[in-house]
Amino acid sequence: MQAAATDVLDRFIEEAVARSRNQPAPADCVLALAPLMLDLLGRAETFLEPRHYRSTPAGYTRNLIYALPDKSLSLYSLVWLPGQWTPIHDHGSWGVVGVLEGILEERSYVRLSHDREADRDIELVRGGVVLLARGAVTTFVPNPDHIHVTGVPADRPRAVSLHLYGRMMTSFNIYDVEARSRRRIEVAHNES
Ligand SMILES: [Fe+2]
Repeated sequence: MQAAATDVLDRFIEEAVARSRNQPAPADCVLALAPLMLDLLGRAETFLEPRHYRSTPAGYTRNLIYALPDKSLSLYSLVWLPGQWTPIHDHGSWGVVGVLEGILEERSYVRLSHDREADRDIELVRGGVVLLARGAVTTFVPNPDHIHVTGVPADRPRAVSLHLYGRMMTSFNIYDVEARSRRRIEVAHNES
C-alpha cells in the first residue's frame, strides 16, 4: 500500500516536472499539466495522509505535500473550513488547482490600470465567480497577474484542494481595492 502510494505521487511529480520543463510558456505549461491534475484527483486518496487535511479555525490552512529540491515546483493541499477566505491576491507563477472535496469558490478581480508593475494607483474591479466542485481543475498564468479571492462561504461545508505551482508559494501580493494598492506578504504553510 505504501509503495503504491509513493508511486502515485512520485509519478505525478516526475511527469509534472517533465511537462513543465518541456513547456516554458506558462499558458502551454498549464495546458499540459491540467489533465495530469485531473488524473491525480482520482488517485489522491492513495497518498494523502491525515497531516494533509490539517486545518485551523484561524484561517485556511496550507499543507506542503512536496517541493522539488531546487524549489521550482511545489504541491500543497489547502483546507478551507466554512467561512475561510484568502485575501485578494495574485501568485507570480503559473498554477494548477484541483478540488478534492467540497466546493471551492473563486471570485475574480480585473486590473484596469495598465502599469502591471506598479504597487500604487491600481484600479481593480470585481469580475465573475466560479464554483469549483469536487473533481474540477482550474489553472492560471502570470503576466498579467491572475487576481482573485478563493474560499468557502460560511453556509457550505469544508473544501480541500490540491495546488501545483511553478515556485514555492511562500509569498504573494495582496491587494487593497479601496486604497488602490498592493503589498507583498509572506504566507505560512505546514511543512510535514
Ligand atoms: Fe490564488
